[in-house]
Amino acid sequence: MSIHTIVLGTGAYLPKSVLTNKDLEKCVNTSDEWIRTRTGIHQRYIANEKETNSYLATQSARRALDMAGVQPQDLDLIIVATMTPDMPMPSVACLVQNALGAKKAGAFDVQATCSGFLYALSIADKFIRDNRRMKVLVIGSEVLSRRINWEDRTTCVLFGDGAGATVLTGAREDRGILSTHLHSDGSLGDLLTIRGLGTAHPVTPEILERGWQYIEMQGREVFKCAVKALESVAWEALEANGWTGDDVDLLISHQANIRILNLLGERLGLPREKIFINIHKYGNTSAASIPIALDEANRKGILIPGLHILLVAFGGGFTWGSVAMRW
Ligand code: ACO
Repeated sequence: MSIHTIVLGTGAYLPKSVLTNKDLEKCVNTSDEWIRTRTGIHQRYIANEKETNSYLATQSARRALDMAGVQPQDLDLIIVATMTPDMPMPSVACLVQNALGAKKAGAFDVQATCSGFLYALSIADKFIRDNRRMKVLVIGSEVLSRRINWEDRTTCVLFGDGAGATVLTGAREDRGILSTHLHSDGSLGDLLTIRGLGTAHPVTPEILERGWQYIEMQGREVFKCAVKALESVAWEALEANGWTGDDVDLLISHQANIRILNLLGERLGLPREKIFINIHKYGNTSAASIPIALDEANRKGILIPGLHILLVAFGGGFTWGSVAMRW
């Protein structure tokens, strides 16, 4: 039997503070009703100054390691998917490596926006299929609240902070990761961007004045592209595994908008109960959304052995991808 990457443990961590739609009504010209009906979001968690990306990531990792029964010093590799690192250098993965005391682990970050966790999972899968004894920690962690213009109602209602983690290893078993597919289209990058604070447009009063430190999104265009890309990558995964829509027991998609999730479910012919939804509690947490959802489903006992799970994500770049698993 060939080697498959299996999940030994999952974990998640959310900041302490909750920001409800009602709270947002006091800051910008919006309403709880608009946000709920257009996005499905009821509330989101917002990190304080001490709750850095690496802090959230480390806390989620501790929970995943606990469940896995794996010691930090036994980890071989740490991969963190994020677009909101504490700083450009060192990486969040190195900060986590140090905080955990994962002395023998290699560590690096992956930046693929909301698809980042699936990109990171795919990389981990390749390492593990090369050496099944490897123990790999894959984290998705974001503090997007720092990249939001709180006066822009078209974006500030959408995003939240948080982190999710998984501990992986290899096994000669008929379960685990079955397929991975990754895609991108950089020609559409301008539709969803943070223009400033990189080396092309470093911090200057002019850049800050233009608001280029914040997320800018052509929401309607992104919506259409997201539905199309998610549907196509889902069919690609089904075909690769010889599955039909009926073979999918649980769809865990990146949580960007409940209307995207519903449309995707319709197009794949999946009933509502097969689509995992938690966007109402967390908003869009970018690379953290899928590992948070996985942990929630796992701890609720939804992820029973043999379950066919399809993970799909779409985000800025554009990037999109899928991972199909048998639990
Ligand atoms: N409150 C009240 N009204 C609002 C708000 C708000 N928060 N935001 C926008 N509106 C208004 C607009 O101004 C517009 O008014 P107008 O008709 O008078 O001009 C109206 O509501 C409709 O605006 P749209 O932008 O067309 O609203 P839409 O239904 O498309 O919803 C949304 C916007 C939620 C952003 C949606 O387009 C969406 O979810 N897009 C995809 C997001 C996504 O998938 N992102 C990818 C991942 S994120 C990442 O990679 C970081």
